[in-house]
Amino acid sequence: MEIRLVRPEEINQAAAVLLLGRPRCPSSMEKSYGELLARLKSTGMDFSRQIVAVKEGEVLASCAFTQVDPTSAHVIAPAMLPSVETENIKLERGMIECAVAEARRLGAKLVQTVLEKEDWPRQTAFRDAGFEPLAELSFMERHPQRADCAMEAPPWLRFITYEKDREGVFLDVIRSTYEGTLDCPALSSLRTAEETLEGHKRSGKFDPLMWFLAFDKRNTPVGVLLLNLMEISDRFNVTFMGVVAEFRGRGLGMAFVKYALRRICETHRTVLTLAVDTRNWPACRIYKEAGFVETARKEVLYRYF
Ligand SMILES: CC(C)(COP(=O)(O)OP(=O)(O)OC[C@H]1O[C@@H](n2cnc3c(N)ncnc32)[C@H](O)[C@@H]1OP(=O)(O)O)[C@@H](O)C(=O)NCCC(=O)NCCS
Repeated sequence: MEIRLVRPEEINQAAAVLLLGRPRCPSSMEKSYGELLARLKSTGMDFSRQIVAVKEGEVLASCAFTQVDPTSAHVIAPAMLPSVETENIKLERGMIECAVAEARRLGAKLVQTVLEKEDWPRQTAFRDAGFEPLAELSFMERHPQRADCAMEAPPWLRFITYEKDREGVFLDVIRSTYEGTLDCPALSSLRTAEETLEGHKRSGKFDPLMWFLAFDKRNTPVGVLLLNLMEISDRFNVTFMGVVAEFRGRGLGMAFVKYALRRICETHRTVLTLAVDTRNWPACRIYKEAGFVETARKEVLYRYF
């Protein structure tokens, strides 16, 4: 079996294995694969970045990696035909290693993957390929209601939106929010604020009018709130929210969430989503109290070079 980067003529077949787990009748499904691919390509996913396991010209397994930003990548776990299930851990490990090597060739220093909590075989394959646990993430959502539109931030809290010439202040504040963070703490020492900000811009659709810097009554920057529109649905995501360490524990985090709900409500979007490290108790407390409900729990594993 050959493990390598996908060839152009194999892209659709490999994507079908990746997305559906097994290929269907090639000719009749070609159109719907094409449609599926077009839809996923509109999310920015590049299907030429697939690693395939090929035997006698047939794609038996596929895994993909996406470049999140210039220095980080995400590996989508391998999917394979039922016929190769028995040898999957060894095969998966080989494919993951190949995906990591390709991502590194393109400049990635950090490679992550998100797996189902109970997916032990896949977690084993990633660990065998050198990945370490980063965090357990709780995925949460909240449907804004009419009352959210009337929510007022405290009068002394002022929000301004992102502009290119304010990027330096955004970076300074993001850097200050790393202090004592419980939000995937292992990452805060690995990535610069510039790299993180670039990653946030590429997560979903970046809209500068939905990125906020908050100031207190002394005009001191106290935190940031970054909301991105998700590409394939009518949802906004809290890409990042952070309060500068010395201002924590005074209700600012909750005020930011209420402000986010109000802005989402004004844009007539239907859902606000987020993912939070389950060890991040202050953040979890805020989201639960603000009415967010958990929709899934997943494990994040990473490798850093
Ligand atoms: C998570 C975070 C935004 C919370 O901001 P905050 O302004 O402290 O939030 P709040 O003041 O609204 O408090 C949240 C809860 O945690 C408690 N808390 C927060 N920091 C605390 C501290 N240093 N000491 C004691 N309690 C604290 C609050 O009392 C509150 O609980 P309560 O409602 O039961 O009283 C902030 O800790 C932070 O920026 N952390 C680093 C980045 C991060 O984790 N972002 C979240 C990504 S999902």
